Amino acid sequence: MPTVIPPTIEVHLTEAELRTAMETDVRDGLTATPKQLPPVYFYDDRGSRLFDQITRLPEYYPTRAERSILEAHAKDLVLQADADVLVELGAGTCAKSRVLLDALRDCGRLGRFVPLDVSETTLWAAARALAEEYPGLEVHAVVGDFHRHLDRLGADRRRLVAFLGGTIGNLDPAGRRRFLADLVATLSPGDRLLLGTDLVKAEDRLVAAYDDASGVTAEFNRNVLHVLNRELGADFPTDRFAHVARWNAAENRIEMWLRSLDASRISLRDLDLEVAFAAGEALLTEISTKFTPAGLEAELGASGLAVESRWTSDGGEFQLTLARRP
Ligand code: AVJ
Repeated sequence: MPTVIPPTIEVHLTEAELRTAMETDVRDGLTATPKQLPPVYFYDDRGSRLFDQITRLPEYYPTRAERSILEAHAKDLVLQADADVLVELGAGTCAKSRVLLDALRDCGRLGRFVPLDVSETTLWAAARALAEEYPGLEVHAVVGDFHRHLDRLGADRRRLVAFLGGTIGNLDPAGRRRFLADLVATLSPGDRLLLGTDLVKAEDRLVAAYDDASGVTAEFNRNVLHVLNRELGADFPTDRFAHVARWNAAENRIEMWLRSLDASRISLRDLDLEVAFAAGEALLTEISTKFTPAGLEAELGASGLAVESRWTSDGGEFQLTLARRP
């Protein structure tokens, strides 16, 4: 029987760096036109719990669709990837990683798992649990973000880099180009990317997934204002901002906005900043891009990744793509 290997962790993001990044992002975003905030600030403890609730809503199909693809095809996928190391970007609690780790174990390829996430506490807990659950697995967690720390993920063995959940859709086209270029630059020939993407579909279904009847997504969206109130001494009247989810057909994306019901002046004490909202003015809090299989293949190809296989959920909602660095 293989023995439990104690996990290791490598920290590239300190509390101070996270704080400075937040200050810069919020100042830049709230002084831009239109006003905007990066989606990463949704996910404090409450936001992470709300997101978890979202993934179980009847309207929010992506999580279930992706899981069904993973469960149906993890074994093929792992055999094709032929990797010794599984890297997961934005791993969080590593719930999805377990499906891949099970397949690796069943194929006798369980070697090393490298989860990357911005949250050190979440990673530690996940790393400890996984090391126990998968005797013989080396878990090396990396606290960092996928814009800056892709080069810290070890290149000594063949890797399968998973970026799941549709999170790449949070990036605009230029952001995706940069992310893919940075990633490809760190991959060795034969390394693979496993990418989860939501697909373009009927507008009413897309909008419902981001504007659920029970209002959980609205609360998740407004949570970013609670975060700014607490972390930056801001005074957003959170209940005076309305949740808006709209389909932007020109850009193939869902956009979430928070629309100020009143004309107001918001003060952000820790930034020494005041921002004015006109009545009805909206703040862009997230984009969630939806793809077509052909469009995705073109984007990956332009970045130097060759699509090897793609799997779609039964209803055609969501796609997993395996692409190889030639
Ligand atoms: C975690 C970024 C993939 O875009 O669908 C869910 C986040 N926002 N409901 C998505 C989200 C509103 C989600 N991602």
